[in-house]
Amino acid sequence: MPGSRACISPNDRGFTHADGVYEIVRSYAGTLFRIPDHLARLKRSLAAVRIAVPDVDTFAETAAELLRRNRLDKKDATVYIQITRGIAERMRAPGPAIPTVYIETSPLIARRALCRGVSVITLPDIRWGRCDIKTIGLLPNALARMQATDKGVYEALFIRDGFVTEGTHTNVFGVKDGTVLTHPPDHHILPGITRTVLLELCRALGIPISESPIPEPELTRLDELFLTCTTAEVIPVLRVNDVAVADGKPGPITRRLQSAFRRLSRRA
Ligand code: PDD
Repeated sequence: MPGSRACISPNDRGFTHADGVYEIVRSYAGTLFRIPDHLARLKRSLAAVRIAVPDVDTFAETAAELLRRNRLDKKDATVYIQITRGIAERMRAPGPAIPTVYIETSPLIARRALCRGVSVITLPDIRWGRCDIKTIGLLPNALARMQATDKGVYEALFIRDGFVTEGTHTNVFGVKDGTVLTHPPDHHILPGITRTVLLELCRALGIPISESPIPEPELTRLDELFLTCTTAEVIPVLRVNDVAVADGKPGPITRRLQSAFRRLSRRA
Protein backbone atom coordinates (compact mmCIF):
# COMPACT_ATOMS: atom_id res chain seq x y z
CA MET A 1 0.00 0.00 0.00
CA PRO A 2 1.14 3.62 -0.33
CA GLY A 3 3.28 4.65 2.65
CA SER A 4 0.82 7.44 3.40
CA ARG A 5 -1.92 4.84 4.02
CA ALA A 6 0.10 2.70 6.45
CA CYS A 7 -1.43 2.82 9.94
CA ILE A 8 0.65 2.12 13.01
CA SER A 9 -0.80 2.50 16.50
CA PRO A 10 0.50 5.27 18.77
CA ASN A 11 0.71 2.51 21.42
CA ASP A 12 3.14 0.56 19.28
CA ARG A 13 6.19 -0.18 21.41
CA GLY A 14 8.39 1.02 18.57
CA PHE A 15 6.83 4.49 18.86
CA THR A 16 6.73 4.67 22.67
CA HIS A 17 9.94 2.81 23.60
CA ALA A 18 12.08 2.43 20.43
CA ASP A 19 11.39 -1.25 21.15
CA GLY A 20 12.31 -2.82 17.85
CA VAL A 21 14.99 -3.75 15.35
CA TYR A 22 15.64 -3.04 11.68
CA GLU A 23 17.68 -3.80 8.57
CA ILE A 24 18.64 -1.83 5.48
CA VAL A 25 19.35 -3.96 2.42
CA ARG A 26 20.73 -2.67 -0.87
CA SER A 27 19.52 -3.83 -4.25
CA TYR A 28 21.54 -3.44 -7.42
CA ALA A 29 19.27 -3.41 -10.48
CA GLY A 30 16.72 -5.54 -8.65
CA THR A 31 19.18 -8.00 -7.09
CA LEU A 32 19.20 -7.89 -3.30
CA PHE A 33 22.82 -7.80 -2.11
CA ARG A 34 23.68 -10.36 0.61
CA ILE A 35 20.04 -10.75 1.63
CA PRO A 36 20.73 -14.06 3.48
CA ASP A 37 23.32 -12.25 5.63
CA HIS A 38 20.90 -9.38 6.37
CA LEU A 39 18.11 -11.80 7.34
CA ALA A 40 20.51 -13.81 9.51
CA ARG A 41 21.51 -10.59 11.32
CA LEU A 42 17.82 -9.65 11.67
CA LYS A 43 17.12 -13.03 13.28
CA ARG A 44 20.01 -12.47 15.72
CA SER A 45 18.68 -8.98 16.58
CA LEU A 46 15.13 -10.34 17.09
CA ALA A 47 16.35 -13.17 19.31
CA ALA A 48 18.48 -10.75 21.36
CA VAL A 49 15.46 -8.50 22.08
CA ARG A 50 13.06 -11.45 22.50
CA ILE A 51 10.67 -10.69 19.64
CA ALA A 52 9.39 -13.85 17.95
CA VAL A 53 8.83 -13.62 14.19
CA PRO A 54 8.64 -17.04 12.55
CA ASP A 55 8.60 -16.00 8.88
CA VAL A 56 11.74 -13.86 8.51
CA ASP A 57 12.92 -16.06 5.63
CA THR A 58 9.89 -15.01 3.55
CA PHE A 59 11.05 -11.36 3.66
CA ALA A 60 13.45 -11.92 0.75
CA GLU A 61 10.52 -12.71 -1.53
CA THR A 62 8.43 -9.85 -0.06
CA ALA A 63 11.28 -7.42 -0.67
CA ALA A 64 11.74 -8.63 -4.26
CA GLU A 65 8.00 -8.31 -4.87
CA LEU A 66 7.95 -4.79 -3.41
CA LEU A 67 10.84 -3.78 -5.67
CA ARG A 68 8.87 -5.07 -8.66
CA ARG A 69 5.63 -3.36 -7.68
CA ASN A 70 7.44 -0.08 -7.04
CA ARG A 71 9.20 -0.41 -10.42
CA LEU A 72 12.58 -0.46 -8.72
CA ASP A 73 13.66 -3.83 -10.10
CA LYS A 74 15.88 -2.24 -12.76
CA LYS A 75 17.28 0.50 -10.50
CA ASP A 76 19.44 0.87 -7.42
CA ALA A 77 17.27 0.88 -4.33
CA THR A 78 17.16 0.17 -0.63
CA VAL A 79 14.81 -2.06 1.30
CA TYR A 80 14.01 -0.99 4.85
CA ILE A 81 12.67 -3.65 7.24
CA GLN A 82 11.51 -2.69 10.72
CA ILE A 83 10.01 -4.97 13.33
CA THR A 84 8.72 -3.74 16.68
CA ARG A 85 7.30 -5.63 19.65
CA GLY A 86 3.81 -4.46 18.69
CA ILE A 87 1.04 -2.81 20.66
CA ALA A 88 1.30 -2.85 24.44
CA GLU A 89 0.28 -0.66 27.32
CA ARG A 90 2.85 1.93 28.32
CA MET A 91 4.87 1.66 31.55
CA ARG A 92 4.17 -2.06 31.98
CA ALA A 93 6.35 -5.04 31.34
CA PRO A 94 5.36 -5.95 27.78
CA GLY A 95 3.27 -9.11 27.58
CA PRO A 96 2.83 -11.24 24.46
CA ALA A 97 2.05 -8.97 21.50
CA ILE A 98 1.82 -9.35 17.76
CA PRO A 99 4.99 -7.82 16.33
CA THR A 100 4.55 -4.97 13.86
CA VAL A 101 6.37 -5.74 10.62
CA TYR A 102 6.99 -2.90 8.18
CA ILE A 103 8.87 -3.23 4.88
CA GLU A 104 9.37 -0.44 2.36
CA THR A 105 11.54 0.20 -0.68
CA SER A 106 13.09 3.49 -1.79
CA PRO A 107 15.07 4.50 -4.85
CA LEU A 108 18.74 5.01 -3.95
CA ILE A 109 20.16 8.33 -5.01
CA ALA A 110 23.87 7.55 -4.79
CA ARG A 111 25.99 10.39 -3.39
CA ARG A 112 28.84 9.99 -5.83
CA ALA A 113 31.07 12.55 -4.09
CA LEU A 114 31.35 10.20 -1.08
CA CYS A 115 33.60 7.77 -2.92
CA ARG A 116 36.16 10.58 -3.40
CA GLY A 117 36.52 11.03 0.36
CA VAL A 118 35.03 12.70 3.42
CA SER A 119 36.00 14.39 6.68
CA VAL A 120 34.96 13.11 10.10
CA ILE A 121 35.02 14.14 13.76
CA THR A 122 35.44 11.96 16.86
CA LEU A 123 32.96 11.91 19.76
CA PRO A 124 32.59 9.87 22.96
CA ASP A 125 30.65 6.63 22.44
CA ILE A 126 27.76 7.17 24.85
CA ARG A 127 25.71 4.22 23.51
CA TRP A 128 24.65 1.14 25.46
CA GLY A 129 26.55 -2.14 25.78
CA ARG A 130 24.78 -4.05 22.95
CA CYS A 131 25.64 -2.09 19.81
CA ASP A 132 25.77 -5.44 17.96
CA ILE A 133 21.94 -5.47 17.96
CA LYS A 134 20.52 -3.38 15.11
CA THR A 135 17.93 -1.64 17.26
CA ILE A 136 15.82 1.34 16.20
CA GLY A 137 16.97 3.12 19.40
CA LEU A 138 19.29 5.43 17.50
CA LEU A 139 19.21 8.64 19.53
CA PRO A 140 22.96 8.74 20.34
CA ASN A 141 23.71 8.02 16.67
CA ALA A 142 21.32 10.74 15.51
CA LEU A 143 22.72 13.32 17.96
CA ALA A 144 26.30 12.53 16.93
CA ARG A 145 25.36 12.74 13.24
CA MET A 146 23.83 16.18 13.90
CA GLN A 147 27.08 17.30 15.55
CA ALA A 148 29.00 16.09 12.50
CA THR A 149 26.64 18.00 10.21
CA ASP A 150 27.02 21.12 12.39
CA LYS A 151 30.79 20.86 11.88
CA GLY A 152 30.28 20.45 8.14
CA VAL A 153 31.59 16.86 8.02
CA TYR A 154 30.06 13.56 6.89
CA GLU A 155 30.39 11.30 9.90
CA ALA A 156 31.25 11.09 13.61
CA LEU A 157 33.46 8.24 14.83
CA PHE A 158 32.65 6.94 18.29
CA ILE A 159 35.49 6.62 20.85
CA ARG A 160 35.11 4.17 23.74
CA ASP A 161 37.91 3.77 26.32
CA GLY A 162 40.34 5.50 23.96
CA PHE A 163 39.60 3.28 20.94
CA VAL A 164 37.52 3.81 17.81
CA THR A 165 34.47 1.57 17.79
CA GLU A 166 32.50 2.61 14.68
CA GLY A 167 30.71 5.54 13.06
CA THR A 168 27.09 6.61 13.63
CA HIS A 169 26.05 4.54 10.60
CA THR A 170 29.31 3.04 9.32
CA ASN A 171 32.08 0.63 10.29
CA VAL A 172 35.61 2.00 10.43
CA PHE A 173 38.78 0.56 8.86
CA GLY A 174 42.40 1.74 9.04
CA VAL A 175 45.43 0.69 7.01
CA LYS A 176 48.91 0.65 8.59
CA ASP A 177 52.01 -0.79 6.88
CA GLY A 178 49.83 -2.74 4.45
CA THR A 179 47.57 -4.34 7.10
CA VAL A 180 43.85 -3.56 7.26
CA LEU A 181 42.71 -2.88 10.85
CA THR A 182 39.15 -2.89 12.15
CA HIS A 183 37.37 -3.28 15.48
CA PRO A 184 36.64 -6.93 16.39
CA PRO A 185 32.98 -7.98 16.11
CA ASP A 186 32.01 -7.72 19.78
CA HIS A 187 29.14 -5.99 21.64
CA HIS A 188 30.55 -2.50 20.90
CA ILE A 189 29.94 -2.49 17.14
CA LEU A 190 27.35 -3.56 14.63
CA PRO A 191 28.75 -6.44 12.59
CA GLY A 192 28.22 -4.67 9.27
CA ILE A 193 27.39 -6.77 6.22
CA THR A 194 29.66 -4.51 4.15
CA ARG A 195 32.37 -5.01 6.81
CA THR A 196 32.13 -8.78 6.37
CA VAL A 197 32.31 -8.47 2.57
CA LEU A 198 35.34 -6.16 2.88
CA LEU A 199 37.17 -8.69 5.06
CA GLU A 200 36.35 -11.43 2.53
CA LEU A 201 37.75 -9.23 -0.25
CA CYS A 202 40.94 -8.59 1.77
CA ARG A 203 41.40 -12.35 2.14
CA ALA A 204 40.78 -12.92 -1.57
CA LEU A 205 43.25 -10.17 -2.53
CA GLY A 206 45.90 -11.34 -0.04
CA ILE A 207 45.70 -8.14 2.04
CA PRO A 208 46.57 -8.89 5.71
CA ILE A 209 43.82 -8.18 8.28
CA SER A 210 43.97 -7.45 11.99
CA GLU A 211 40.65 -7.30 13.86
CA SER A 212 41.98 -5.04 16.61
CA PRO A 213 40.62 -1.64 17.70
CA ILE A 214 42.42 1.53 16.57
CA PRO A 215 43.54 3.86 19.41
CA GLU A 216 42.16 7.38 18.82
CA PRO A 217 45.60 9.08 18.69
CA GLU A 218 46.64 6.65 15.92
CA LEU A 219 43.82 7.80 13.59
CA THR A 220 45.84 10.51 11.86
CA ARG A 221 49.03 8.40 11.92
CA LEU A 222 47.41 5.72 9.78
CA ASP A 223 48.36 5.32 6.13
CA GLU A 224 44.68 5.12 5.15
CA LEU A 225 41.29 5.33 6.79
CA PHE A 226 37.90 4.38 5.36
CA LEU A 227 34.29 3.66 6.29
CA THR A 228 31.83 1.04 5.05
CA CYS A 229 28.05 0.79 4.96
CA THR A 230 25.29 -0.70 2.84
CA THR A 231 24.18 2.52 1.18
CA ALA A 232 27.57 4.14 0.50
CA GLU A 233 29.83 1.04 0.23
CA VAL A 234 33.49 2.13 0.79
CA ILE A 235 34.16 5.77 1.75
CA PRO A 236 37.73 7.10 2.08
CA VAL A 237 38.30 9.37 5.11
CA LEU A 238 40.67 12.22 4.32
CA ARG A 239 40.54 14.30 7.52
CA VAL A 240 39.84 13.57 11.21
CA ASN A 241 39.02 16.53 13.47
CA ASP A 242 40.49 18.76 10.75
CA VAL A 243 43.83 16.90 10.61
CA ALA A 244 44.76 15.13 7.34
CA VAL A 245 45.18 11.35 7.26
CA ALA A 246 48.55 10.74 5.50
CA ASP A 247 48.60 13.00 2.41
CA GLY A 248 44.85 13.73 2.63
CA LYS A 249 44.04 11.65 -0.47
CA PRO A 250 42.28 8.25 -0.82
CA GLY A 251 44.93 5.56 -0.35
CA PRO A 252 45.81 2.71 -2.76
CA ILE A 253 44.36 -0.13 -0.63
CA THR A 254 41.11 1.81 -0.13
CA ARG A 255 40.90 2.33 -3.89
CA ARG A 256 41.58 -1.34 -4.57
CA LEU A 257 38.90 -2.47 -2.12
CA GLN A 258 36.46 0.13 -3.46
CA SER A 259 36.71 -1.23 -6.99
CA ALA A 260 36.72 -4.87 -5.83
CA PHE A 261 33.51 -4.16 -3.89
CA ARG A 262 31.96 -2.44 -6.88
CA ARG A 263 32.77 -5.39 -9.16
CA LEU A 264 31.39 -7.92 -6.68
CA SER A 265 28.16 -6.05 -5.91
CA ARG A 266 27.28 -5.35 -9.55
CA ARG A 267 27.82 -9.02 -10.37
CA ALA A 268 25.85 -10.42 -7.42
N1 PDD B 1 23.89 1.64 8.70
N2 PDD B 1 27.40 0.61 12.17
C1 PDD B 1 26.19 1.18 12.39
C2 PDD B 1 25.95 1.83 13.74
C3 PDD B 1 25.20 1.17 11.39
O1 PDD B 1 23.99 1.73 11.59
C4 PDD B 1 25.50 0.55 10.14
C5 PDD B 1 24.45 0.45 9.08
C6 PDD B 1 26.77 0.00 9.94
C7 PDD B 1 27.15 -0.67 8.65
O2 PDD B 1 26.46 -1.89 8.49
P1 PDD B 1 26.09 -2.45 7.03
O3 PDD B 1 27.37 -2.62 6.30
O4 PDD B 1 25.41 -3.74 7.32
O5 PDD B 1 25.20 -1.41 6.39
C8 PDD B 1 27.68 0.03 10.99
C9 PDD B 1 22.71 1.58 7.88
C10 PDD B 1 23.00 1.45 6.44
C11 PDD B 1 21.93 2.83 8.20
O6 PDD B 1 21.30 2.83 9.24
O7 PDD B 1 22.00 3.78 7.43
